Amino acid sequence: FRRLIGLTLLSFLAVTGARKSRSSGPSICAEVECFEFDEVCNSTDFEVRHYNTSMWVSTESRAYIMEMAAFEGLHRLYSYIQGENAYGVIIDMTAPVLVKVPRYKGFLEAATYTFSLLLPAEYQQSAPEPTNPNVFLSELPEMHVYVKPFSGWILTMTSKPYAKSLARDLNDIGASFNNAFYYNAAYNSPMALLNAHSEVWFIANGNPMCPIPS
Ligand SMILES: *[C@@H]1O[C@H](CO)[C@@H](O)[C@H](O)[C@H]1NC(C)=O
Ligand SMILES: *[C@@H]1O[C@H](CO)[C@@H](O)[C@H](O)[C@H]1NC(C)=O
Repeated sequence: FRRLIGLTLLSFLAVTGARKSRSSGPSICAEVECFEFDEVCNSTDFEVRHYNTSMWVSTESRAYIMEMAAFEGLHRLYSYIQGENAYGVIIDMTAPVLVKVPRYKGFLEAATYTFSLLLPAEYQQSAPEPTNPNVFLSELPEMHVYVKPFSGWILTMTSKPYAKSLARDLNDIGASFNNAFYYNAAYNSPMALLNAHSEVWFIANGNPMCPIPS
């Protein structure tokens, strides 16, 4: 019962503490347009953000491991912004690249990975249709996200343990989140292996909970 009160209080804090500051992420955001968010709370364990509804260009790729899917997926998105679209326009690069990663797949079992690139502000309301039938425009609904940042490129080997530890931290405080997948957010080009900023995200169910201060 006491735990229940604690959780209710925490949820309350999370809600009233929302929209503390507006923030746009890591240093690369000084150079390219980033997916902007409102910071809800933060700690050494994880961060809670609120994102408004947004439009992306996406593609799906099926493979045994994310790295194999990424080759095809990123190439298609890159081609779209390089002019493979109905207007033939070149579209500015943005950050991050989001990769939707299914959490549970058997060993030696293929999975579908979804790669998405944020459309710049000028194309948020209306973007040119992709000419490649495997590429599509998609809407990401308004959401609260639990975020764990790390440095390095989003290889399966590096991101999986972060997703695991974030899931553990969230379970520890009884936070509810969509367990079926996580997002990898990469803020640097695949070439920038050094100083790359990456994040793993879980989508919160309902009102988010803030980390318990240690
Ligand atoms: C999200 O939308 C709300 C309401 O329109 C606005 O006040 C807020 O600044 C937006 N946040 C971002 C990061 O754009
Ligand atoms: C969140 O807190 C961590 C650890 O204190 C810090 O390194 C990070 O910069 C903070 N993030 C934001 C967006 O304030």
